[in-house]
Amino acid sequence: MCGIVGYTGGRPAAPLLLDGLQKLEYRGYDSAGIALLTPEGIRMVKNAGHGGVMALEILAGKIGALPMAASAGIGHTRWATHGRPTDINAHPHLDASGEFAIAHNGIIENYMPLRARLRAEGYVFRSETDSEVVAHLLARHYSGDLAEALRGALAEIEGSFALIVMSSRHPGQLAAARRNAPLIVGVGAESEFFIASDIPAVLKETRDIYVLEDGEMAVADRAGVCFTDFAGDPRPKTVTRVTWDAAAAEKAGYDHFMLKEIDEQPQALRDTLSGRADKSGVIDLGIAADFFADVDRVAFVGCGTAYHACLVGRELLEQWARLPAETAIASEFRYRQPLVDARTLVVAVSQSGETADTLAALREAKKEGARVLAVTNVVGSTVAREADEVLFTWAGPEIAVASTKAYTTQLEIMALLAMFLAARAGRLAAERSAALLKELRSLPAKIEDILARKEQLRGLAAGLSDSSSAFFIGRGLDWAVALEGALKLKEISYIHAEAYAAGELKHGTLALVTRETPVIAVATQRTLYEKTLSNVEEVKAREGRVLAVTRAENKELAAAADEVFFLPPVSDDLAPIITVVPLQLIAYYAAVRRGNHVDKPRNLAKTVTTE
Ligand code: G6P
Repeated sequence: MCGIVGYTGGRPAAPLLLDGLQKLEYRGYDSAGIALLTPEGIRMVKNAGHGGVMALEILAGKIGALPMAASAGIGHTRWATHGRPTDINAHPHLDASGEFAIAHNGIIENYMPLRARLRAEGYVFRSETDSEVVAHLLARHYSGDLAEALRGALAEIEGSFALIVMSSRHPGQLAAARRNAPLIVGVGAESEFFIASDIPAVLKETRDIYVLEDGEMAVADRAGVCFTDFAGDPRPKTVTRVTWDAAAAEKAGYDHFMLKEIDEQPQALRDTLSGRADKSGVIDLGIAADFFADVDRVAFVGCGTAYHACLVGRELLEQWARLPAETAIASEFRYRQPLVDARTLVVAVSQSGETADTLAALREAKKEGARVLAVTNVVGSTVAREADEVLFTWAGPEIAVASTKAYTTQLEIMALLAMFLAARAGRLAAERSAALLKELRSLPAKIEDILARKEQLRGLAAGLSDSSSAFFIGRGLDWAVALEGALKLKEISYIHAEAYAAGELKHGTLALVTRETPVIAVATQRTLYEKTLSNVEEVKAREGRVLAVTRAENKELAAAADEVFFLPPVSDDLAPIITVVPLQLIAYYAAVRRGNHVDKPRNLAKTVTTE
């Protein structure tokens, strides 16, 4: 996720672009840049953050060097996916002649073959990004018309994009296109146009917005703006008047970042999967095969939500690859003289990549000679830099303290890693792999189905928001999800919540179950269903109130429970990725009902850099 802006009009572009980027910082902030159209050609400044100073702050200090008379340009604030956050990898990117500039948000999935082909044709690349191919493709397809050149480039690229492009050969003109990444055009006073990833970028200047749909392009200059599809056929569009205030706009109209991030999960999952597997079931993690040679044990380490993702990783790895695996809470791992050696793969999972305990565990593992694979959401983070190899989740910045989209994308990476290692071990047939991938691709739509039933979840949350204590139970993978559900509830609603392996409840905790105690029973695992059902009966016999999150076919459980939320059909192994979503929403609505500060819960921090 990144933020892009463009401006064409009669005023100095640089300060307007900078202001727009500052409003989009929540979409990414590791590097930033601005390029302007001037009579002398394109002028550009761009940089990563350095020495603790934010990228945009450094950029702000540089725009004085740009020609203030320039009244058209583009800008970008980056959340790195392909290529580290460095000055060179910052956007905008230029073609070799310096006549074309682009700013891109999204992922160009086929950038590797495109780059290889363009290189063979003599194009010289400067950055490590996937996006740079677009600048060269523009130059390659250009024959006098910028929109035509963009259409030519679009026909070659696969993946997701919001793009703004410009050329020194077309003063005052911007062309933009969208597929699976947001893009809007704002209409300013007196023939000026703003193009941006999101409304907050333009709100200070205008409230009249066109929202581009997937497959649409816009071309703007002082004469006006026109909209077409990628074939060049006109698209009729109407202006929307935005009534949000600036704070609401940053959250795209949501009351809280957490709810916005819950809703972003389908796209985050699509992005994280993109380019990592082909249709036939072959997984490409972008890691050299010999990195995994001789691995005979795997240890997953992480904290909080990331640790819960580790639990799912271990289960899938053991089931699919039959490789011994363990999980450890990072703050425990380093002090217990862990049994790791050169044949151990340590998987360090961390959304931020900066958690001190996870970092300490990673260093301990390396000291013992283990090889470390990081799973993180932040390119350039310390965990990413110190690990031997990295698998990035492409969830975009997560702002709410309670982790949601980072968790589901971590689970997706866990599934891909387990599949990859199982296939390597000769334990995952190509057909099974293809079927699992097909299902992974179908999960975003299933989450959308759950998200469409928010009102039911709001009602269920109301039923437990007055409780002082709640239990979550489940078996196998359902237990792992129950742990995450309980964490979500306690983090933001402040209701005491514990998760138990369903079979363990009767060994003590059942004594706490009364009429006042909601028990959330997670039951998706078919082989464990009967057992979980018995545990629910035990709770019911003590007059506990049961909310079941389960499959539609589990009629006995639905009948035994006081309330039930049905999940869309899903395989047992991949069920955690969708099962957690109703639990996130129940926690969210319970917290809202209790009037809590959802995005910044008391006593907690998003990134914990102390041990
Ligand atoms: C903090 C956050 C949690 C997070 C944990 C690990 O406690 O509040 O939401 O799960 O740190 O963070 P990491 O960035 O390493 O995933």
